[in-house]
Amino acid sequence: MQTPGLRVHDERTGKEYNLPVQDDCIRAMDLRQIKVNPDDFGMMAYDPAFTNTASCRSAITVIDGERGILRYRGYPIEQLAGKASFLEVAYLLLHGELPTETELRTWVSQVTHHTMVHENIKKFMDGFHHDAHPMGMLISTVAALSTFYPDAKNIRDPEARKLQILRLVGKMPTLAAYAYRHSVGLPYVYPDNNLDYAGNFLRMLWKMGDNSYAPDPILARALDILFVLHADHEQNCSTNVMRAVGSSNADPYVATAGAAAALYGPLHGGANEAVLVMLDEIGSVDRVPEYIKRVKDGKFRLMGFGHRVYKNYDPRARIIKKTAEEVFEVTGRNPKLDIALELERVALEDDYFVQRKLYPNVDFYSGIIYQAMGFTPDIFTVLFAIPRTVGWLAQWQEMLDDPDQKIARPRQIYTGAAKRDFIPMAQRKPAA
Ligand code: ACO
Repeated sequence: MQTPGLRVHDERTGKEYNLPVQDDCIRAMDLRQIKVNPDDFGMMAYDPAFTNTASCRSAITVIDGERGILRYRGYPIEQLAGKASFLEVAYLLLHGELPTETELRTWVSQVTHHTMVHENIKKFMDGFHHDAHPMGMLISTVAALSTFYPDAKNIRDPEARKLQILRLVGKMPTLAAYAYRHSVGLPYVYPDNNLDYAGNFLRMLWKMGDNSYAPDPILARALDILFVLHADHEQNCSTNVMRAVGSSNADPYVATAGAAAALYGPLHGGANEAVLVMLDEIGSVDRVPEYIKRVKDGKFRLMGFGHRVYKNYDPRARIIKKTAEEVFEVTGRNPKLDIALELERVALEDDYFVQRKLYPNVDFYSGIIYQAMGFTPDIFTVLFAIPRTVGWLAQWQEMLDDPDQKIARPRQIYTGAAKRDFIPMAQRKPAA
């Protein structure tokens, strides 16, 4: 008996095909047999921006965008953000299971002992212009780590792979802090191995002359929660880049740099910076309706709204909104929150947003909380890149171990000129 599949009738030839279906998917390569003439290339699927193409099988993160659900390795994000530390979640994402107490202690100690960067990295940093964007500096120096660790190219060696993962998870906050300190003209602060991941990062950013500086525990915990929320998000733009670069067997440092470059864009990790610019432009609660009208007129988009996958409230945005209240107890209320709340209220009652299922995404509130904590907008994407490195690495590992994966290489529909003969310079005419 034939396996139940997808019956395809090609009206051009009258031929019938039965395409096997697994997990509600057909294999795009099964389309290739569909031809009009035997020497045709065969049918392909056209899917710019991969809106309906599964590029891999993955056991790491699941999102149900219609119901606003996000889970890492099966655990709901709400439970992880409330109960687990970022490094505990990092272990879960990278190893597949929550660590035991001993496993966690070993893991934290290993990551902590890889927080230092080579002294020469400081020289790279010093080479950047004083107003260089911290994200540009971070991307470049992560790529440069590849030159310090030639063993990173041994991607099939489990021990070498594990070592690069520890180095990347450990060093990202240090590089991020160095990039920030350079951008404000302050000396670099070495990591303090007595502090936890988020606390150490805050210290590297903000310690001045006072050696007794201690990060505020509420702010450190809030940042740790934000790191948990940003750790992975299945096949998003930057993760897709991580997998694509990694698929050529490039080392994880340059692959991470590529992924971070994708994250830099305002439609991805740069959106929370754009949200603050937008809130500044709106200026006051009473100007919200007029701004919404201009969005609906197609003048620009409401930043921090809408998502390729979530067609419901982004669960991360809900947790950030709650965490913001705790942060404001320490820092005082960021007045932008009131404008954001009013924007959300007006938008969620408006047909334009309701019909298109546009809800606040993670970036809508994260900028406001970061700003209240003292971060400047140009470091927001850097704050995103630190935890997302864990997700990128988990996905990179999974990709390397997946026998289905090969070098990522999409096809195209060629729309250019047909074959034509070279025109000597003297006979060429200017293009119209
Ligand atoms: N404001 C106003 N209208 C919007 C918005 C928005 N933020 N987002 C989507 N739309 C509208 C589009 O104009 C389109 O309307 P139409 O059907 O009348 O043409 C419809 O909603 C569908 O939009 P698409 O662009 O097809 O949605 P897509 O899934 O491609 O885009 C994206 C998702 C890029 C996130 C988009 O919603 C957007 O630009 N949002 C603003 C930027 C942002 O907040 N990015 C952060 C994303 S989360 C992250 O990366 C961590």
